Amino acid sequence: MSKVRFTAFSDLHHHPVWFKCDAPERLESIQNRAAKDGSEFLIHMGDFCHHVPVARELIKQYRDFNIPGYHVFGNHEFDLNSYEEALEGYGLSCGYYYFDCNGFRFVIIDENYFSDFRGIYFHYSERNYFDHPKGRDWINPEQITWLRETILGSPFPCILCSHATLEYEGGIKNRDKVLEIIRESRNLPGRVMLCINGHYHRDNFNVIDDVAYLDLNSASFDWIPNPHFLYPAEWYQEIEGLGNQVIFKDPLSATITIDSDGTIDIAGAPGEFLFGISREMTNNSPSRRPCTPCILDRKVRI
Ligand SMILES: [Fe+2]
Repeated sequence: MSKVRFTAFSDLHHHPVWFKCDAPERLESIQNRAAKDGSEFLIHMGDFCHHVPVARELIKQYRDFNIPGYHVFGNHEFDLNSYEEALEGYGLSCGYYYFDCNGFRFVIIDENYFSDFRGIYFHYSERNYFDHPKGRDWINPEQITWLRETILGSPFPCILCSHATLEYEGGIKNRDKVLEIIRESRNLPGRVMLCINGHYHRDNFNVIDDVAYLDLNSASFDWIPNPHFLYPAEWYQEIEGLGNQVIFKDPLSATITIDSDGTIDIAGAPGEFLFGISREMTNNSPSRRPCTPCILDRKVRI
């Protein structure tokens, strides 16, 4: 029997010129919770910051904490710097990797590739992905081969972590290839128990074919396409994209405990909107899943 407990969060979006999310304070609060809950490590599901070389202090705060912190790449890690700079800033040699902890394998996926019409894969770098909206969110073929070996050869149950979702179509474009590997893992020691993603700033949990899928809410805010003007007027002078944000008052994270008997226990976080301003109040179109300023508790046995 083995058991692991860790802290997961996502989409902190540190970039003080664009976002009013006070990322260092939010991260500190999440780190304190991780310590209080006895987590073995922290992991974020991407969009931690928008300019990796400039976010040195925040990355240092994450790295130097007395509980290890792992990175998953989101698309916005490549807005203002190259892939190589993002790797260097996060201390990684590759965007996809795995680590083992307490009898579980955590597999970090990097779907930040776009594919052009020739079927060649390019990693996101310096905002190049904005020019290829239809070809985005692919896992490159070499990584699929690596995923197959890493999961099917694992001596431990696997947890997959990615920025975009594997749960439904419209997230990772070639998710079918990963679902095939998940199916093949079913009766092996490396069976996939849980897939966690960020990116959508939504809170949702689903179990499909004995695999749990956690859509992890943002630690900071929801993004809306058309700006609103409901915050104090002076804030708009300071923060460029303020009107496009529906800010969560509290930093959101989840303490996740997984038992090798198949139990997944997610302790979420309550919360409210800043000044009570919800997405509905901003007259922006509703999204696929409701915008809520919290992460609900869930417990299942798969
Ligand atoms: Fe994202």
